[in-house]
Amino acid sequence: MFDNIRSDIQAVFDNDPAARSKFEVIFTYSGLHAIWMHRIAHALYKRGWFTVARIISQFSRFMTGIEIHPGAKIGRRLFIDHGMGVVIGETCEIGDDVVIYQGVTLGGTGKEKGKRHPTIGNNVVIASGAKVLGSFRVGDNSNIGANSVVLREVPPNSTVVGIPGRIVKRNGERVGDRLDHTRLPDPVIDLCRNMQNEIDSLKAELQRLREERAKEKV
Ligand SMILES: CC(C)(COP(=O)(O)OP(=O)(O)OC[C@H]1O[C@@H](n2cnc3c(N)ncnc32)[C@H](O)[C@@H]1OP(=O)(O)O)[C@@H](O)C(=O)NCCC(=O)NCCS
Repeated sequence: MFDNIRSDIQAVFDNDPAARSKFEVIFTYSGLHAIWMHRIAHALYKRGWFTVARIISQFSRFMTGIEIHPGAKIGRRLFIDHGMGVVIGETCEIGDDVVIYQGVTLGGTGKEKGKRHPTIGNNVVIASGAKVLGSFRVGDNSNIGANSVVLREVPPNSTVVGIPGRIVKRNGERVGDRLDHTRLPDPVIDLCRNMQNEIDSLKAELQRLREERAKEKV
């Protein structure tokens, strides 16, 4: 238990350059308080003490602004920065060394039963305001951009941004725009452009012939 506490505190120093002292971290980081209260709530939940677990989770939400369902499984060294507005659902599973910013929802779509919340791999960053919705996996070492809405499986080592979330980087390489539906080629526009070019060159040719004839008359 003390090992866990020590590594939770270390995770704050590893991820937040603003962290100054252990004293400050222990007393002012609401992300830490939420994780510690969740550990108690989760232990009670596993023993079938569902209501007491929910009461602890609600108290934690009241104190920190972070709502973690007692059923959620959380790995080691999770760092929740700022935290306000974070919601983590009952069947969510979070790996080790994950960073979550304020306003993140790890939730369900409302269409699934049973396992209905995401599984987050190790070393994943979920930026502020992102929503990850559904019972799919976000692969290890992936980044979810601020305010993205992710509705599908994310392979490892990917960066996902936008609504709906799309992969823009994988294994450090930019992913091409082949499926960028806002920039698909338009054959009608291309045809019009070609016709306009033809008309312009015919007009220029006609003008040249007119000038030649005018010179001959003189
Ligand atoms: C996604 C993020 C984690 C960076 O991941 P990364 O793998 O380093 O990705 P990059 O910065 O190389 O960005 C890749 C592309 O996605 C775009 N992008 C990044 N974040 C984006 C976002 N939230 N929304 C839309 N596009 C975004 C970048 O502009 C870039 O596009 P380009 O290749 O056309 O230039 C980061 O941009 C992010 O969202 N950080 C926010 C952290 C946060 O919540 N801070 C709050 C602290 S209080």
